[in-house]
Amino acid sequence: MCGIVGAVSRSQAVLRPLVEGLRVLEYRGYDSCGVAVAEADGVAVRRKVGRLAELEAVLQDGALDGALGGIGHTRWATHGKPSDENAHPHSDGSGHLALVHNGIIENYLELRRDLLDAGVTFTSETDTEVLGHLVGREFERTGDLAAALRAALARVQGYYAVAVVAVRDEVQIVCARQGPPLVVGATAEASFLASDVLALIPHTREVTYLEDGDVAILRPGGFELSDLAGNPVERPVRTIDWDAEEASKGGYAHHMLKEIHEQPDVLAQTAFDRLLQVEGDVAFEGGGWENEALQRVQRVQVVACGTALHAGMIAAYMIEGLAGVPVDVDFASEFRYRDPQLVPDTMVLAISQSGETADTLAAMRLARSLGARPVSICNVIGSTVVRESDAVILTHAGPEIGVASTKAFVTQVVAALLLAVRMGRARGRLSVEQGRELLDELRRLRPRVESLVSDEVDARCAEIAAQTQDAKGFFFLGRGINFPVALEGALKLKEISYVHAEGYAAGEMKHGPIALIEPGMPVVVVNSPGRVASKVRSNIEQVKARGGRVICVGSDPESLALADEGVPVPATNEWLSPLLNVIPLQLFAYHHALLRGCDIDKPRNLAKSVTVE
Ligand code: AGP
Repeated sequence: MCGIVGAVSRSQAVLRPLVEGLRVLEYRGYDSCGVAVAEADGVAVRRKVGRLAELEAVLQDGALDGALGGIGHTRWATHGKPSDENAHPHSDGSGHLALVHNGIIENYLELRRDLLDAGVTFTSETDTEVLGHLVGREFERTGDLAAALRAALARVQGYYAVAVVAVRDEVQIVCARQGPPLVVGATAEASFLASDVLALIPHTREVTYLEDGDVAILRPGGFELSDLAGNPVERPVRTIDWDAEEASKGGYAHHMLKEIHEQPDVLAQTAFDRLLQVEGDVAFEGGGWENEALQRVQRVQVVACGTALHAGMIAAYMIEGLAGVPVDVDFASEFRYRDPQLVPDTMVLAISQSGETADTLAAMRLARSLGARPVSICNVIGSTVVRESDAVILTHAGPEIGVASTKAFVTQVVAALLLAVRMGRARGRLSVEQGRELLDELRRLRPRVESLVSDEVDARCAEIAAQTQDAKGFFFLGRGINFPVALEGALKLKEISYVHAEGYAAGEMKHGPIALIEPGMPVVVVNSPGRVASKVRSNIEQVKARGGRVICVGSDPESLALADEGVPVPATNEWLSPLLNVIPLQLFAYHHALLRGCDIDKPRNLAKSVTVE
């Protein structure tokens, strides 16, 4: 996730609005930032690693104060570490053009090779610079920035929100969207673009959201919309009546709901530029995941807390099943105080959204003191967990504001799947074809995730929440790789609606807990076709035989038919089913909390990052 801003004006300097826009968007990423502004003889770029204050110090000299057009960017690093060189804006080296980008150019390596063959030299590791050169070469040819951007994007595969500023005779600012959001607005004097309406509100509350495939040309006092073929398009002008806090939710009632809806994008941003389709393998940025390192691993020990632990339990199923490596999983808060007997060549896998959870950090440090190799799946590039890891797989969920974790969980599970495939391929346990099959299915998952964050599924989950709003307590049951999904669903409901909910291994119910089932008690059962599906169906029968009210979430037709209520989920490979099954559970918990009038984004007694014991 990154923040993008842009502005062009008849007579008002734009530097201050650009910087203020970046300040407002820093929540979207803050490991580096920069601006590019149009001057009489070209485009001036200033960019700095670190927070916005570092950039402001560079701008103190006032050299850019008079510019009437420009763009800005605050970065959440994906390709290439946070550094001045990798910070946006990127240029084509001509001095007349600069570009900022949020998203992934999936085929950037191929495009980079073509450009290198054409004699282009690169100054960064980023995919964005590749796009900058493509646009620059077209712009040099035609002098028409919108046409240059369209031509460049026609060669691009991936997801992007991109803005470009160029000068030839006049200032030209153009932006385009395919995936990550972009919104534009205008006053009589100027026009503006941003990743989030929050940055436009100080200038105008009349805004237009670009849709996928749209291109906007900004002019002082207005903008023109077209598609990638250059045909004009019409988009509604919306009036934003939110206050600043409200606006940061992008039109959603809560950060949590917005983050649930960001899951299709963040799944793509975490997975897609790491997939080696031909090899049926995965490539992680940063070292430590090479064949030799992974062939040495004798055991994996997962340490995490809460939702991250549930992702870790899913990781255990995946690593054992796909890579054939034994895995232990423990609460970090337990691991750190027991006397763990780790065998040599144990890889300790810490999973953490914030990267600052005290228990998880303590578990990592204990592991290292015992001679193990701590690695991590983490969402915050500058966090302590990342700094103390020998190897890291970053999740690209962007900042997660809602205390109840949703999009971070989905990206943690994606990262775990990628790791399991990498380990399976490194150890020869997974063939090229098996790797390709899994990664192809992962690549096809985004639209299925989108179908689950639809109004229809949301309404279904709201309906079932309303039907069960007076329940005293819930069970959430699952088996196999969907057992941790049941635990996650129970945790979501507990932490935002304060209703007692217990996640349980479905096969364990008969060993005592089934005594709690009474007529009408809601029991959510997660089930997808696979090796344990028929066993879960039996568990549904056992619950129904005692009057329990079964709510089935999943893609197993028989289970959905057996259940009293059902939320069907698109079919997918069993290994990927947790990524889909969890979404209705998130929405179910959300609507319960809504009905109970709870503070959904800041539930009582909780904190987003538990940095204390
Ligand atoms: C999840 O909804 C909770 N907010 C909590 O369990 C969280 O997952 C846990 O505290 C771990 O946090 P981390 O991922 O930042 O380490």
